[in-house]
Amino acid sequence: MLILGIESSCDETAASVARDHTEILSNVVSSQVEEHKLYGGVVPEIASRRHCENVLPVVQKALDDAGVTLAELDSIAVTAYPGLIGALLVGVNFAKGLALASGKPLVPTHHLAGHIASNYIAHPELKPPYLCLVVSGGHSHLVEVLSHTTFRILGRTRDDAAGNALTKCARAMGYPYPGGIHLDKASKSGNPDAFPLPKPKIADNAYDFSFSGLKTAVVNLLHNASQKGTPVCTEDLAASVQATIAEVLTEHTMRAAREHGYTTIAVAGGVSANSGVRASLQKACEKRGYTLYMPPLSLCGDNGAMIACAGSYAFEAGIRADSSLNASATMELTAWGEQSRRTV
Ligand code: KG4
Ligand code: ZN
Repeated sequence: MLILGIESSCDETAASVARDHTEILSNVVSSQVEEHKLYGGVVPEIASRRHCENVLPVVQKALDDAGVTLAELDSIAVTAYPGLIGALLVGVNFAKGLALASGKPLVPTHHLAGHIASNYIAHPELKPPYLCLVVSGGHSHLVEVLSHTTFRILGRTRDDAAGNALTKCARAMGYPYPGGIHLDKASKSGNPDAFPLPKPKIADNAYDFSFSGLKTAVVNLLHNASQKGTPVCTEDLAASVQATIAEVLTEHTMRAAREHGYTTIAVAGGVSANSGVRASLQKACEKRGYTLYMPPLSLCGDNGAMIACAGSYAFEAGIRADSSLNASATMELTAWGEQSRRTV
């Protein structure tokens, strides 16, 4: 079974061809990072325009690299939600045109289901049910993965996502966009205990996260230091931020695993590239005898392979869209399958 996956939810235009869910025949990513770096973050309008320019060559290259023609595909998957609306619309409209022209079924795919699927590509032995920590730029979710296309959300962020908090802290510390990776590098030579930072607990749901207090604490700390003319060791601050976020993510994941009886744990999303988060989860899982699955660094960020993989399981589960498919900036992971199955 051959599927084309198209991703354009943020600042990467990406496409991939997958066979039988997890065999990746091509994976093309065109990143816009260099351009957005000039503005210190993603400029949605620019992202949409670049997707518009890049989507055709990226999809063409994905087909060429795979040695597959449009006619040979069984279906076309596209990220339809959630993400930057203008960016999503480019991929969705392109996929609709391609599906219409080729007569292939169109599979609307959820971006976070895509991140979750990145682990199936790297670890084909991983099978639901299991517990997955999904940590991207815009989302921090603790998810029970019940099947490849059905999910239950145990916890979520009440404010900033972990990735967003990392990016904003990195920016306040003077690192260029995308800050997460620079902060990660700097933290390697810093002292993680140098700055005690807030680790809020949510009274009515112990699995929920809140990272806005940490972000504000870092901004205030830097502001006060600059007003007083006191130097701040950015490596120490980077290490403290990273250790605090890693500790909170790990604590919540371990609690959910214990209370819900999971011994198979996965992590996915852009923040799963973070060395502190990876090490912390690994240590905690080893201690408890849990099996931990992490995507390789090449599949942590946004890519087309994860959409092709998630889309192919969705195709098998009967998730389809017709030519009225619209993109949406928001969409619950739990509503994805239900809504699309109803609209077939
Ligand atoms: O999943 P992703 O590529 O895009 C979204 O779907 O949002 O995640 C991007 C996030 C950014 O917030 C970035 O700060 C974070 O992933 N990130 C990292 C690292 N690489 C990417 N955070 C920490 N350490 C990294 N090495
Ligand atoms: Zn993402």
